Amino acid sequence: MSLKLKSGFEFDYDNLYGEGKVTDADLASYKDDLKKAHEALKVMREKGFIRAHLSKDGEPEKVLFSELPYVEEGHLNSPESIARLQKLTEHVQNNVDAVVSLGIGGSYLGDKVLFDTWCGEFWNEKSKEERNGFPKVYFSGNNIDSRRTGDLIHSLEYQADVAEMHKQKKFKVLLLVISKSGGTLDTMSNFMVIYDELLKKSNLDLEVVAVTDPNMENQTILKKLAIEKGWPQFAVPDGVGGRFSVFSEVGLTLAACIGYDIKGFLQGAQDMDKVCQNEDMWQNPAMLNAALKFAASEKHGRDIEVMMPYGDYLESISEWYIQLLAESLGKQYNKEGKEVCYGRTPIVALGTRDMHSMTQQHQQGKLNKVVQFIKVANWKNDLTIPNVFPEAEKLASVAGVTLSEALETARQSNADALASNKRYNACFTLPELTPYHLGELLYMLALSIAYEGELADVDAFDQPGVEAYKKIMWPRLQALKKQKEAK
Ligand code: PA5
Repeated sequence: MSLKLKSGFEFDYDNLYGEGKVTDADLASYKDDLKKAHEALKVMREKGFIRAHLSKDGEPEKVLFSELPYVEEGHLNSPESIARLQKLTEHVQNNVDAVVSLGIGGSYLGDKVLFDTWCGEFWNEKSKEERNGFPKVYFSGNNIDSRRTGDLIHSLEYQADVAEMHKQKKFKVLLLVISKSGGTLDTMSNFMVIYDELLKKSNLDLEVVAVTDPNMENQTILKKLAIEKGWPQFAVPDGVGGRFSVFSEVGLTLAACIGYDIKGFLQGAQDMDKVCQNEDMWQNPAMLNAALKFAASEKHGRDIEVMMPYGDYLESISEWYIQLLAESLGKQYNKEGKEVCYGRTPIVALGTRDMHSMTQQHQQGKLNKVVQFIKVANWKNDLTIPNVFPEAEKLASVAGVTLSEALETARQSNADALASNKRYNACFTLPELTPYHLGELLYMLALSIAYEGELADVDAFDQPGVEAYKKIMWPRLQALKKQKEAK
């Protein structure tokens, strides 16, 4: 059983729904809740209102991510804002040598998906011509690791020295600093270290672009710095939480720096949004996915979701999804303030890699998981396994099969094996790994999480839990500084 959209995007839920799995009776018991959830998301789309959602400061706050796919006058993504992104593209192409994207959580994970699926692992090793004049891309700020940051600085300085040695134009680095709050330790500490070091290099040109909360009344530290130093600014808009921000300038600035098809990406999200306005759950992949996963968890104890895309450059989709699910739905209290401690647990996995590690547990461990596959139906530049060792019978028996056929055969075999042992699984299929289909997938997942927030009656758009450690950490860091100064 599957739901296939006109675009070719498909949600195959055959191994998740039916006898011995999520049943019609399970779904029927949520009939009213699903209806209400659908109504709530309609209101969210129209008014940006989600019941009981409050900002970090306890103020009512709009939820606006569903506006992002629609590029319109007065919207968060408008013809003007897209034109500014185009200007950024023109600025970096054939001009900037390296972009360092600094950010963490929602200010990193979506950007990494766009980079991985568009550029692949060896982008920085390609020639500038092969990169079509676009810069190399490095990520930083998504940890506080002095070894890696030191290595990154060293690499950039070395490239500047080589350019000077070859009497080329000055090596130009653009630091793309992304932080909604503008003061996140991980992002800003790395930024300060890198900025300070690179500024000292006379053979390197340094530019900064700041992506932060645009609010002028209550300016973030990053905003203040950007104004003071004259750095160009882009927005992490109000009403768009980090994990929903890949369709905003958080994702789109990085996209602009790699020549990404922004239009196609937003169009995919928009078309998916339109499909998901259908009140018939069986025609609405976001609602159907939420209903099946919620029922699998609540009625059958399958409260772990293993997100398992097949193909190396898809792993970051799983990492992005982990944050989306965990931060949105892992909540102690429901919307009425009652303690519920809700939250399915997401796990990153990758096919075929983790079939040689985790699959043992998926196949025979606790009956508490749904394995969610993502597959690409048609891969570009498919390679064929050659008959290079005809004497080796087992190897010769797969000669002539393409790598993508082998990948899909492995995935399908895994799905069948899991299903044969009461292990729930499902699959999202992208016809091709294009920005359009990626936009469809990421948007559908974001919307599905919004549905599930309503079904579970928790606020999917706040994250009060991440404040707890920060309240302990910042005073400790400040005390540490004092202690060091006293020595
Ligand atoms: O989703 C979120 O809100 C978080 O993951 C944030 O994106 C992350 O903590 C980074 O925050 P900021 O963008 O304020 O630096």
